[in-house]
Amino acid sequence: MKYALLRAPHPNARYEASLDTLCQAETARLLSAFGVQAGLEYENIGGLKALTFCCELNERLQQALYTLSSLYALAGAGPNGELHPLMEGAPARPFYDLPAILKYKGKTNENFTRFLINMALFSSAAASRFDEPLTLWDPMCGRGTTLFCALGRGYHACGGDLDERALKEASAFFKSYLRTGRFKHEVRRHSQTVGKQAVAVEEFVTAASTEAYREGRTLTLALAACDGATFARAFKKHPADLVVCDLPYGVQHSGDAGRRGSDLEKTLRRVLPVWREGMKQGGVLALSFNSYTLPRERVRELMQEAGLAPFAGGEYDTLCHWVEQAVLRDAAFAVKA
Ligand SMILES: C[S@@+](CC[C@H](N)C(=O)[O-])C[C@H]1O[C@@H](n2cnc3c(N)ncnc32)[C@H](O)[C@@H]1O
Repeated sequence: MKYALLRAPHPNARYEASLDTLCQAETARLLSAFGVQAGLEYENIGGLKALTFCCELNERLQQALYTLSSLYALAGAGPNGELHPLMEGAPARPFYDLPAILKYKGKTNENFTRFLINMALFSSAAASRFDEPLTLWDPMCGRGTTLFCALGRGYHACGGDLDERALKEASAFFKSYLRTGRFKHEVRRHSQTVGKQAVAVEEFVTAASTEAYREGRTLTLALAACDGATFARAFKKHPADLVVCDLPYGVQHSGDAGRRGSDLEKTLRRVLPVWREGMKQGGVLALSFNSYTLPRERVRELMQEAGLAPFAGGEYDTLCHWVEQAVLRDAAFAVKA
């Protein structure tokens, strides 16, 4: 049977120009994770550009396809250009709007963040459990885009950052979102000792509905103001299925990763082995970065030096795209084998 994916356009014209390639890469990764080798190609169907593929679509695969970061519609494609929308089974998405509400300079585009999460997920041992409450870490979370995207997937999210002000804003925003949306929640604060350092951790426990909250089907979002390596030690009791991190671009963020690629390399050499320790077997690390300051091959080498197995070739080599004059963004992925 033939299917067509229609993708939602993105308001940023530059990002929109890269989306056909990114969408194809993400779909190819997802289908491979389900053991489907479908020839993906773009076709013009009645004036619409559609990504088409042929396979036997079962219920699980269909549910997984609904998670694609740029999906507008999944449809069955008939021989004469007919499209039969298959969106009735698409699940409700509580918390999905979270990452789009807060706007600030340096925010990672949430569409790209969802893409990064999916590429990591469908490269990991947790791929078939995509709709279970997995645990995602972002140890350089800024104001929390990745964490909020994770909650929108029904995942537990743990984030850290050196920038206390950014974390305070993420926390204040989330509190007001929960209150405004009348989501039942509890805020817990505790101090975690890491070596000689006391790390203050703020934990939000909430749920997609009051019923889910009462039944204990809760989700936790935890925030800690600390360095990325300290973060991984503080959260080792909550090992990660996925570590998804948009690294400083060397343009406006600094932290100790500084403005130069060499500073970022130094930071990665220090934090990656500790992040690896905090990952579950089969867990995947996804990093996005500015390839002008740090090329993809170097990131993969650093991942390897940290004991992770980087993915290369196929869709993993097609992800580089323009963000702004000084930023050519790329992404790299590695598994804890
Ligand atoms: C590209 S930004 C992340 C933006 C985030 N995804 C968002 O949308 O808000 C990179 C972040 O890394 C943080 N950072 C840099 N070095 C760090 C370190 N050693 N430990 C923890 N965070 C660090 C910076 O403070 C910055 O917030």
